[in-house]
Amino acid sequence: MNEQSDLYFVQASIGPMQNFVYLIGSRRTHECLIVDPAWDTDALLEVAAKDGMKVVGALVTHYHPDHVGGAMGAFKVPGGVAELVGKVGGHIHVNKHEADGLIKITGVSESDLVRHEGGDTVELGDVAIQLIHTPGHTPGSQCFLVRNRLVSGDTLFIDGCGRVDLPGGDPAEMQRSLRKLAQLPSDVVLHPGHDYGPTATATIAEQLRTNPYLKAVRSERS
Ligand SMILES: [Fe+2]
Repeated sequence: MNEQSDLYFVQASIGPMQNFVYLIGSRRTHECLIVDPAWDTDALLEVAAKDGMKVVGALVTHYHPDHVGGAMGAFKVPGGVAELVGKVGGHIHVNKHEADGLIKITGVSESDLVRHEGGDTVELGDVAIQLIHTPGHTPGSQCFLVRNRLVSGDTLFIDGCGRVDLPGGDPAEMQRSLRKLAQLPSDVVLHPGHDYGPTATATIAEQLRTNPYLKAVRSERS
């Protein structure tokens, strides 16, 4: 089994808000984590089971309920991290700046969490997932870089970027985060948290041409 084929990576479109959920893991160890497992826990577990994979926890891009479950105004988003760890156990990997908010919104316990710094790595078999802290949409937003794929949550969309006008949003931080992402290798493939663009994925090179928010920081690219 070569290194590339060891990677298990699935993009799943789910829920009424055009969310993308990702399953990332190792085909060698048959373990995977689910990124932002809101809306339908059983459907996501079925995807993993059909592929012979065991779900061992979750990765959280940020604490908004359409990504992690919980109350969104009067509406309760089904599924999410609390239901997932209730069903399969494991840990929820969250940036340290987002952890208290995640507990408040979803009701998970401190013992369910692994609080991360930016730059941390989560490993499953030979698959290393690098955590990049990208504040701006929320203070503890993080992206996940695994080989040449970037899972970008609500920080960077195809031809767009996340809102900065919600509580905890910060335009200056978003600009710094986008600058960081614009420095990634051109062939890295962006995998956003919502299906808002003309395509489901695009390379950083393509986004530097068509995404107005990345274009704005392009001149600073080394
Ligand atoms: Fe969000």
